[in-house]
Amino acid sequence: MDMDKLVSLCKRRGFLFQSSEIYGGLNGFWDYGPLGVELKRNVREAWWQDMVRGHDDIDTLPGAPEPFEMTGLDCTIIMHPQVWKCSGHYDLFHDYMVDCRESKKRYRHDQVNGRWVEAKGKRIFVATQLGGDDALGETQQRALKFFNLRTKDAEQLQWQGPIVSLTKVSDFQHVLGPDAKEIGTLTEPREFNLMFKTYVGALSGEEGAAFLRPETAQGIFVNFKNVLDSSRVRVPFGIAQMGKSFRNEITPRNFTFRSREFEQMEIEFFCHPQASPEWYKFWRDRRYAWYLKLGLAGDRLRLRDHDQDELSHYSVGTADIEYAFPFLPPGEFGELEGIAHRGDFDLRSHMEGKLVRKGDELVVELDEDGKPRHRGSGKDLSYRDDITNERYIPHVIEPSAGADRATLAFMCQAYTEDEAPDENGKMQSRVVMKLHPRLAPIKAAVFPLVKKDGMPEVAQDIYKSLKKRFNAFYDEKGAVGRRYRRQDEAGTPYCITVDGQTLTDQTVTVRDRDSLKQWRVKVDECVEEIARLIESGGAGIE
Ligand code: GAP
Repeated sequence: MDMDKLVSLCKRRGFLFQSSEIYGGLNGFWDYGPLGVELKRNVREAWWQDMVRGHDDIDTLPGAPEPFEMTGLDCTIIMHPQVWKCSGHYDLFHDYMVDCRESKKRYRHDQVNGRWVEAKGKRIFVATQLGGDDALGETQQRALKFFNLRTKDAEQLQWQGPIVSLTKVSDFQHVLGPDAKEIGTLTEPREFNLMFKTYVGALSGEEGAAFLRPETAQGIFVNFKNVLDSSRVRVPFGIAQMGKSFRNEITPRNFTFRSREFEQMEIEFFCHPQASPEWYKFWRDRRYAWYLKLGLAGDRLRLRDHDQDELSHYSVGTADIEYAFPFLPPGEFGELEGIAHRGDFDLRSHMEGKLVRKGDELVVELDEDGKPRHRGSGKDLSYRDDITNERYIPHVIEPSAGADRATLAFMCQAYTEDEAPDENGKMQSRVVMKLHPRLAPIKAAVFPLVKKDGMPEVAQDIYKSLKKRFNAFYDEKGAVGRRYRRQDEAGTPYCITVDGQTLTDQTVTVRDRDSLKQWRVKVDECVEEIARLIESGGAGIE
């Protein structure tokens, strides 16, 4: 699938717009249009329904070690600054960046690749932001230009080793930056904290400094005791939260994939330390199955366990659910969701103070005077099992998903070009968004075949009864074939057409977006028919 085509459809049909577009846009920020807002809402609602409200529906629970409870929270975006000091974000949540003195561009150190090449007695590292085969082509072109060689002289370039990350290079004097003409214009890598800083109230200076949350997770940890005390849940149980998070990404890119303002859907699942490996496996498999159920194809979706050296500062085990986004080079996957075994790191940090690993132990980090570097709340965040009387700090499994990334993956998977017959039965090419009916922005569109003979009135009545239950759409303008096509692009799974026969036998045509099958249904059974189809996952009449 060509990503440019999806990006253009998103703008044309109102899925996504660049933020502040009339002022030239703001890099890393995106607005959801009329169709996009419905789609993303449906993604979030499917997650909340399947993970929180309906979490114990029998068929969604294979492999659960025991029954469990789920509850929700909606916390503020700005929290006490100490939260981020104890969580580790204040000290550790940074990327390394390099600046180019010549092009004035800024890059994430680990996102620059390149290869060493020698020609005319000089050895340089040609850098690019591209990966895979694209990087090979780009570095070749730029090396030819740098050494003032023609394409036919390419054999004069002596390449030394494969494409490697700039993080493997220490000699910056010989690096040709991704957008530079001269070598040695990149600065040494510098730390850059990704949290957005703001100031609360009228206090000036650092006293009023606060941060926009870079993840929703911490709101859950600091409310752990409140939830326990107010809702009578017992371990094992999970708390879910969805909402905006902010990261001042150095190089936002790939449409909404890496944005500076985005939405997360996170669960913190609290369990007994001994049961935690089993729960970790349960959540990993369950979250993977969720994406498959909603239409992501198995060959483009994978579950990948992290290597030991990839694990975050708190994690003893993490897996990523990854999708082969079309903007990535063939064979590469991008993260949709991480499922982390976080042990008791977070609850203990908010009790005792910021922790660091010392050998196999997590201990409170001390400053030069031997005092905790970042003091915890001092509150008891342990749990007492009222049946066994055991007191312990629960371990946490964290399935952490991005609502925007999931929405983007569902759109990439849905985008299809195929053919459908027009009103004269002639096959015409069409663009169709084959979204799962639960996710589709509009569930059903209603058309009168012509704008006369009482057809619009019947169609309006059907539309009105549908929209009490679903997002429905009414359209009476233009040829019916063109109306179908507009709905195909919007991803509407069912179109209902009122025609001449309706006026005699009170039946309408239902058309299935994907199979193109059409069948007749009684007018007063329309709503139930659409509800049944959406719930059963879509397939039209057999
Ligand atoms: N609490 C753990 C945590 O935040 P993460 O892997 O940093 O983990 C979780 O983020 C998910 O949030 C990612 O898998 C991704 O879907 C989404 N996400 C993270 N950064 C993002 C960004 N800059 N733009 C869009 N989505 C992002």
